[in-house]
Amino acid sequence: MPVTIPQGQVYLDNASTSFPKPDAVAEAVAQAVRIVGLTTGRGTSFCEIDPDDITVKVRQMVARLINADDPQRVIFTYSATDSINLVLFGTLGEGDHMLVSPLEHHAVSRAAHHLRETRNVSFDAMPADADGRIIPERIKEAVKPSTRLACVSHISNVSGTVQPLRDIGAELKRLNVPFMVDASQSAGCHAIDVKAMDIDVVAAPGHKSLLGLPGTGVLYLNDRLQPAPFRVGGTGIKSELYHLPPELPVYYESGTPNVLGIIALESSLGFIFEQTVEAIERRHHELTARVLAALQERPGVSVVGPTDPAIRAPVISFNIEGYAPKELSQLLAEKYHIAHRGGLHCAPMAHEFFGTIKCGGSVRVSPAYLTPDREVEYFCEVLEELTD
Ligand SMILES: Cc1ncc(COP(=O)(O)O)c(C=O)c1O
Repeated sequence: MPVTIPQGQVYLDNASTSFPKPDAVAEAVAQAVRIVGLTTGRGTSFCEIDPDDITVKVRQMVARLINADDPQRVIFTYSATDSINLVLFGTLGEGDHMLVSPLEHHAVSRAAHHLRETRNVSFDAMPADADGRIIPERIKEAVKPSTRLACVSHISNVSGTVQPLRDIGAELKRLNVPFMVDASQSAGCHAIDVKAMDIDVVAAPGHKSLLGLPGTGVLYLNDRLQPAPFRVGGTGIKSELYHLPPELPVYYESGTPNVLGIIALESSLGFIFEQTVEAIERRHHELTARVLAALQERPGVSVVGPTDPAIRAPVISFNIEGYAPKELSQLLAEKYHIAHRGGLHCAPMAHEFFGTIKCGGSVRVSPAYLTPDREVEYFCEVLEELTD
């Protein structure tokens, strides 16, 4: 019997941006936009929502999420790309070298190529196994005297590969290389502990697994790196100075922040703490196992990256024999109403690594904590229909 196609969309594209958001996020944003002027550090609030207080609170919440001691070291940016660019462009100069994972998103790989062209910065991927997991004991082979930074995407947005951050961090600490984690696919749904994992920098967007809005990003910086600021302008404090006040976080936060987005983060982080990251991670593990099993039992389906759910997240790319990724993607969208992503996912490095670059990438589905079970079941039915 052919599958019954739903009226609206079935949303399996959380790796692009999370949906649905918790109800409390929508309510907080709608309420705030109605009752308060949305700036921080630059005015006075006379109503029950005080953006300044919320900003302080959200820094504390982010610090708590990643087990960082000092909330003043949590900087608001506009995206993960913005956070990553701030660190790379502010840290790396003429002749410096950087280590990366073999699975970086363009937020890192394009920045690295740009720095190579403009500042003679070089970079190398750290040795990894067939799943793209860095092999900590072999990192030393890639380190040079000019290595200033290692940057690792915690969870690949193509293969869902989860990097062993604790072992990587310990080894980088031993090798005296500062460690930046791109937590775009993991912040809020996977444990991150900057102390236990010896992490110096964490970059994350607000709109993916932190369940907030686009136009927000966070950056945690410990005192090991002092990147030059990326943006220079008004900070709301010390206006008599013609240079940036050196104190954190304002040193990196020139310009009016996305206050509405920060208000959304207060709600979404509240939701995450209420549910607990452990429970969210458990649910993600179940989703990974369910979707992988469905893919693996169908003929002609090839999964990109790890086939063991223990080392991957529900960011699941695959191909079906007989379909080009673009063609399959069109079918999933137009015939079956499944929101997903097809192609190279802004991560050609990962597709080169897994050998899927030549065929045009893959199709990616990414269910998450708030995805209803029926939507996952629907995808499994569609998969059966397509491979019958
Ligand atoms: C691993 C990874 N890094 C960075 C980014 C960039 O995030 P944003 O577009 O929010 O800056 C993404 C987005 O897909 C990602 O998956």
